[in-house]
Amino acid sequence: MQSATLFNELVKNRRSTFPKQFIPGKQVADELVEQILINATWAPNHGQSEPWHFTVFSGKGLEKLASFQSKLYKKSSGDHFKEDKYQKLQQNPLLASHVISIGMKRTTTKRIPEIEDIEAVACAVENIYLSVTAYGLGGYWTTGGITYVEEAKSFFGLDEHDRLLGFFYIGHIAVPSPPAIRRPLTEKVTWVKG
Ligand SMILES: Cc1cc2nc3c(=O)[nH]c(=O)nc-3n(C[C@H](O)[C@H](O)[C@H](O)COP(=O)(O)O)c2cc1C
Repeated sequence: MQSATLFNELVKNRRSTFPKQFIPGKQVADELVEQILINATWAPNHGQSEPWHFTVFSGKGLEKLASFQSKLYKKSSGDHFKEDKYQKLQQNPLLASHVISIGMKRTTTKRIPEIEDIEAVACAVENIYLSVTAYGLGGYWTTGGITYVEEAKSFFGLDEHDRLLGFFYIGHIAVPSPPAIRRPLTEKVTWVKG
């Protein structure tokens, strides 16, 4: 198959795979995760800001993440606390092989608008999604739990002006996601030709 055709298939077949669909705890080699992160860093970014900051949790590190995020959720959720959410924050990391925190770090003094650094990180995450798909692995981006809790940032190496944008879970697939649908392109595109 031509590489463009292969790429089109890869993009179309990329699906989010959630922790309950993983083979619990089955390991992905660190070298492979490193390659996935190298691919992430080839994403476009404005003014060479390379504004991504990742922390990779694996092995016992997953227990540290589970403990940190469930405790902080309990402390910070107040009246919104939900027991099932707390349990998921404690258990989901342990189903994965690796969990990567996705941070936006303001790295440059050039006046790049914050939204553009956030957009660059989102491009990096799509590269992660596609790389995971290419390796036949599963994964998904979650912005749940403690993602937007200010106090969480420092645990993930982020400062006041940076942002935590969520977590990418990676695992071996036990139960594949069903194919997805997208609404027709005509609903979403306007062509202007002269
Ligand atoms: C910015 C962003 C945040 C997301 N946050 C969550 C989340 O918190 N929980 C979740 O289950 N899925 C989350 N997802 C994954 C979506 O649920 C998933 O992309 C969607 O179901 C479409 O499925 P697909 O990725 O297979 O196309 C997020 C996706 C994006 C792009």
